[in-house]
Formats: sequence, structure tokens, C-alpha cells
Amino acid sequence: MRYGTKAVWIGNEPDYTGAVVPPIYMVSTFRQKDPEIKDKYVYTRLGNPTIERLEKKIATLEEGEYAIATASGMAAIDTVLRLLKPGDEIITMESLYATTINLMKTTYSRYGVKVKFIDLTKTENLMGNISRETKMIYFETPTNPLLKIVDIEEVCKIVKDENSEVIVVVDNTFASPYNQRPLKMGVDIVVHSTTKYIGGHSDIIGGAIVTNNEEIYNKLRANLISSGGVPSPFDAWLLLRSIRTFHLRMEKHNYNAMKIAQYLSEKEDVEKTYYPGLKDHEGHEIAKKQMRTPYGNEGYGGMISFQLKTDLKGVRKFLKSLRIIALAVSLGGTESLIVHPASMPPYKPLTKEEKERMGIWDNLIRFSVGIEDVEDLIEDLETAFKEMRE
Ligand SMILES: Cc1ncc(COP(=O)(O)O)c(C=O)c1O
Repeated sequence: MRYGTKAVWIGNEPDYTGAVVPPIYMVSTFRQKDPEIKDKYVYTRLGNPTIERLEKKIATLEEGEYAIATASGMAAIDTVLRLLKPGDEIITMESLYATTINLMKTTYSRYGVKVKFIDLTKTENLMGNISRETKMIYFETPTNPLLKIVDIEEVCKIVKDENSEVIVVVDNTFASPYNQRPLKMGVDIVVHSTTKYIGGHSDIIGGAIVTNNEEIYNKLRANLISSGGVPSPFDAWLLLRSIRTFHLRMEKHNYNAMKIAQYLSEKEDVEKTYYPGLKDHEGHEIAKKQMRTPYGNEGYGGMISFQLKTDLKGVRKFLKSLRIIALAVSLGGTESLIVHPASMPPYKPLTKEEKERMGIWDNLIRFSVGIEDVEDLIEDLETAFKEMRE
């Protein structure tokens, strides 16, 4: 089966009723035949048929062996970070989802885990920085919100040559597995906020972890069972439904975002457009190599950031003038969403200096391009530019 066929059919295996799509096992506990517990299912935190079908489907999307579904993206990330112990060091990048940085810097540093920040867009920065304490390299590509690109293959090569035991983790939420499959490039663990492209309909919070390493998988499963961040069978069922159109949605996100990035990059009112598909994006050549659909075509995803040639007042006027594109956090849904990172969560509590170090300038806007008709989105932006200038 090819990718799209798998997105439709994997996880739909008929049960005794012949149902063509999976039913929901909305149940917490399972009746046992024997007190010694010989049955497969016992209690939903340990395993549930609907969640299991979802895990199989997500593993297929990432072309990986083992997947674990979690209650949120943060639950997935926390489950992975719990592989570390006091004294271990994690190398990461400051261009990271702010809540992930916060989790590392507050919770995990309290437990004695050291966090070192390195600019991984220049992979040579890793040289001389991997010590005996380094146990994990963790990054996103494209990054949030400036869409910086890290060379996944190159990072894995440098790290594994230095010490094959160091675990490389990629948060693949922004690209989605349709456009990038890091396990194929040497990464040990992929994490996702399935709230985003995999869910795709802005109606659930979820997460996932995928790996090809059985030993790591067993540890992660044990971590999740003990911390309890499992999804509801209902959310798992919604995700199973979402994934059946995943490949179609992603094609349209890729198409629309490319058109809009081209439009914005030629627009007078825009200072700079950040989209890895644009030839002048500083990570374009690496993105061209590693951001590929399962059919081998270039696929740069649905996320664009841009800086407006105006002040804070102008930015707010622009955002309030949009009629179709919704001002809302999150991303990856069928509907276009836009945010002003400097004044919205999760960046809002940071100081101006912290924000600027991360590229969160007052005139920066992040746009999650949906799957509407692209002409309507461009007309909406056009009206907002006009009203901003008035
Ligand atoms: C890149 C990335 N990783 C992880 C998360 C956290 O996911 P969740 O909100 O599902 O916990 C987000 C949320 O925005 C994200 O953008």
C-alpha cells in the first residue's frame, strides 16, 4: 500500500461486526476471565483497542515501528524527557516551542537535568559541545515561529559519530509526517502535538511519540503508564477519523502556503517573509533535501511567518481587519489561524529582551495557512493591508 491508502486503511481492520471504520471502546476497565490476568486488555491507561489502532496508524504515517499516543503534545514531550536522570545534559536550541523550553528549564533543571542551548542551524556548533553527560539532543525543524531549518541527517551523523548512545529527538509537529520523516534520517524519537496537522480540525488536544528502538519504546511506555497522560478513547477515535484525510489536507496546506508565501514576499507592506519553500529562505537548500512528501515531491508545510512594515498599532489594526482568517493560537487545522506571538501565549510572559533574542519582534506575525480556497485568503489579507494603511 502507498502512503495515502495506508492513511485511509491502517487501523480500520474490521472487528466481528464487519464495521468499515473503527468503533470506540469508550471503557475504562475490561472483564477478566482469570484472576492471573491472561487477557490482552485490562485497564485503559495500560492499553485500549481504539488507542492501539491510533498508535498503529501514527507509526505508519512516520514510517516507524512503534508509536505511543498521549493526552497532549506536552505529555509526549514530558514522557520523552523522563528518560533523563539527574546529572544528564540535554542539548537543545532556543528556537523551540516556549512551553517545551519552560518544561526543561524549570521542572527538569529542578531534578538536576542540565540544559544547554546551541544554535543547531549551524551543525558545526555541536563540535566540542557533546560531553560524557550529554544524553539527549532535542530540536524542532522548521522551528517555531521563525521556520529555521536544522539539517537532521547532519546532526544525527555528528552526534552518533561522537557517541551512539546519545538520543536524538525531533519535534516534527510543524512539518508533519507528510512532509518530513526524521526516523528515516537517523533520529531515535519523533514527538508530535497531534493537536496540530495530524488532528487537523482544531477539535482535540493530543500527542504522539514514534521510535524504531524497542528498548526506548518499552521505557517510554512505562513512563506514560506511570505518569498517566494517556488520551481518551474518544479523542483517539477522532484522530483515527482525522488521519483518513491527512494526505489530502497536507497537499492543500502545502499548495496554499506556497502561494501565500509568494504573495507576501512580493507585498510592499511586508518587511520579510519566512517560509522554507522560498528560495531566499536561509535554510531552503536543507529544507529542499529533507522536506519531501512520501511521493518524493517538495513539501514545505502550512506555516508562514512575516514581519509587517508598521508599528504595534498597525499590527493590531491588520489583525483586527481580517474577516476569514481567525486570530487564534494553535495551528495545523483546516481553518486558517493567525497569531501575534509578541502579545499572545506562550510568549506573552517573556521579557522584551527574551522575545527579541528568539526573534519575537513586535511586527512579527505567524500564519497557519488552512485549506480554504487560497484566493479567499489572499483577498482577506489584501483587505487587512488596506485597512492597516488607512
Ligand atoms: C511545536 C510544538 N510542539 C509541542 C506543542 C505542544 O502541544 P500540545 O499543545 O498538544 O500539548 C506545540 C503546541 O503548540 C507545538 O507548537
